[in-house]
Amino acid sequence: MPEVTLSTLNGLKAKGEKITMLTCYDATFAKAASQAGVEVLLVGDSLGMVLQGHDSTLPVSTADMAYHTACVKRGNHGALILADLPFMAHATPEAAFTNSAALMQAGAHMVKIEGAAWLAETITQLAQRGVPVCAHLGLTPQTVNVLGGYKVQGREEAQAAQLRADAKALEQAGAAMLLLECVPSELAAQITQAAGVPVIGIGAGSATDGQVLVLHDMLGLSLSGRVARFVKNFMHGQPDIDSALAAYVQAVKKVSFPASEHGFSA
Ligand code: KIV
Repeated sequence: MPEVTLSTLNGLKAKGEKITMLTCYDATFAKAASQAGVEVLLVGDSLGMVLQGHDSTLPVSTADMAYHTACVKRGNHGALILADLPFMAHATPEAAFTNSAALMQAGAHMVKIEGAAWLAETITQLAQRGVPVCAHLGLTPQTVNVLGGYKVQGREEAQAAQLRADAKALEQAGAAMLLLECVPSELAAQITQAAGVPVIGIGAGSATDGQVLVLHDMLGLSLSGRVARFVKNFMHGQPDIDSALAAYVQAVKKVSFPASEHGFSA
């Protein structure tokens, strides 16, 4: 795969071709996923749950994220590497600068930050300092204790209006990408249509510019035994992991995934 850059992703949005993203935490899967055509490898702080066995992402540190980002970099064949700033790593702009530097120096091309409009200044300042940012909106797992659980966000009109405003504010602040988690499909479609930057969805319907899933989920692996509505097991009917990864890429590109049953209504 030729090197994927932000320009590649903007070009895919412009021509209406869906963007493929998967979480990835090590070199072997980085090689397999990038060679299967996954355009963005997300070193997600979900590693706290799927690799470390915690019941939330809160215990994950920047050192953990930098270690796994460096592992992914070693196996990657041309995908863009996006790494999560973990819980509290962007609590102040100064913390965001230091922790983003650690991730970029470990091999990330871009960082992802969970939050809302309060992050606008931090995002502007990171972009000015050479760090492209993906803003993660909707269900933000780092604030699970404030949200009162892993719940769909933006079902009520006031909340939906707030999400539309946050998305606009963060794009205007300089976010190079948005990620929407667990929001009604119709709301995700409105935000995607209004956005000038690529919008990636998980549990956000099929109208976003691209899709992401947690690698372990799409391979049918689960520690808890609970499977979220938006997950599809791509190992079904496939002889091996390489084929499942290729099937995911094809399904996202052809918009056969996500189907309506993987999304949420208002
Ligand atoms: O950490 C992660 O894996 C994520 C995805 C769920 C989008 O943020």
